[in-house]
Amino acid sequence: MAKRDFLTLLDCSPQELRALTQRAAELKRQQRAGTARRSLVGYTGALIMQLQSTRTRVAFEAGMQQLGGSLIFLSPADSQFGRGEPIADTARVLSEMVDVLMIRSTSHEDVQSLAEAAAIPVINAMTAQHHPCQLLADMQTFEELRGPVAGRRVAFLGDGYNMCNSYINAARQWGFDLRIACPSGYEPAAELLAPAGNAALVQSPHEAVEGADLVVTDVWSSMGHEEETAQRRERFAPYQVNEALLDQAAANALFLHCLPAHRGEEVNHTVLDDPRSGAWVAAGNRLHSQKALLEFLLGVF
Ligand code: CP
Repeated sequence: MAKRDFLTLLDCSPQELRALTQRAAELKRQQRAGTARRSLVGYTGALIMQLQSTRTRVAFEAGMQQLGGSLIFLSPADSQFGRGEPIADTARVLSEMVDVLMIRSTSHEDVQSLAEAAAIPVINAMTAQHHPCQLLADMQTFEELRGPVAGRRVAFLGDGYNMCNSYINAARQWGFDLRIACPSGYEPAAELLAPAGNAALVQSPHEAVEGADLVVTDVWSSMGHEEETAQRRERFAPYQVNEALLDQAAANALFLHCLPAHRGEEVNHTVLDDPRSGAWVAAGNRLHSQKALLEFLLGVF
């Protein structure tokens, strides 16, 4: 059977994505009931992190361990790719030693090159263009807390960057309507938006949020944009999510943020702890959804 990669949400069919989130929910129930099966005994993964991570790394490391497998963490400081070994060479070598690769890199092209050269599944643990693992957890969380997301209205506020891009793909795959409000000059790429008939740019945060069932934001200065922080604070200020903005959404709206958050910027100091916030549940669901993804790519469910 040909190996499968997970570089964007478009690498899976809508049916496969639904099965993944259902399996993640089942793994969560089993873990809490103490009935989880060690489905990945004998499997080893390698996690290449070219950028910092807390949630993604711990979810993969703890997840692999809980399923009976093991994971090797590789950072540029202590690996040859940090000294310039070509990514394709790394892929070929690691394919001889482990069963699955996970990589976080600013360069989506590097992740694609790794996947092309690897004989084993490759998972995008976040690039500048996409963050599909976060979307698995977000969709699991919405459905856990609010029911099916298909046909719902979702608002994305802020930077048209990797999280926004992945929400555009999610709108296609899960069948919800997405309204995106970004400051001018920070919109997502037109070629990504064009095929998504149910995703559209709107003029203001108010227009995006009005009647929304889910409101989502992300940091204004993602990793690699830190030097633009002061300028972005000014441009993005009207896009801050706070309780007053959420009051304009649907009565039972959910708020999600992938974290880490910058309180006082894209969120105020209290909204993450508002009863409408599912951010902490989503962070925990990274564990279960990434376990389901590992099982799926390794062919054990
Ligand atoms: N949301 C997210 O990917 O968190 P980390 O950067 O901590 O992995």
